[in-house]
Amino acid sequence: MIDIQKCQITHYPADVLAGRAKPVEKIDDDIRQLVQKMTDIMLKNKGIGLAAPQAGVPLRLFIISLTGTADNVRVYINPSVTPTGDFSTTEEGCLSVPGVYTKIRRYKNCSVTATDLDGNKFTEEADGLYARALQHEFDHIEGTTIVNRMGQVAKIAHRRRLKALQDAVQNKE
Ligand code: NI
Repeated sequence: MIDIQKCQITHYPADVLAGRAKPVEKIDDDIRQLVQKMTDIMLKNKGIGLAAPQAGVPLRLFIISLTGTADNVRVYINPSVTPTGDFSTTEEGCLSVPGVYTKIRRYKNCSVTATDLDGNKFTEEADGLYARALQHEFDHIEGTTIVNRMGQVAKIAHRRRLKALQDAVQNKE
């Protein structure tokens, strides 16, 4: 049972963002409600992707809408993402690390296999922003955020902001 009322955006360094999420066992009303709630959170915060741990739920599920609009929201349940090809380095942000934009090196291409909300399995090849978003969201369900992928120089550059986020999470506990 997921308590949808309690779902809200989680910020680094919350524990739920640091652990490996568990597979979705059944696509039921709980999961459908969770996807709706995640969509609300993503649109409200003007994001283009959101993983379930970012709503406080440690399940292997994320959504992406490259346009940041409701009509383009796609759902990826129990996804696997396989990167291929060369690397590219581009500035990225994350709704769970507000105020931090930093260059992250990722693969230029990837393939994704996942199940959609109707229970249909699909496989796609991705490049550009889509490939980057898939790798970013897949990181979340593996317990990795952009903070883990930042280099030492970026960590030093953003140290005040990261410290403020750490203090805010500590004060909540
Ligand atoms: Ni993120």
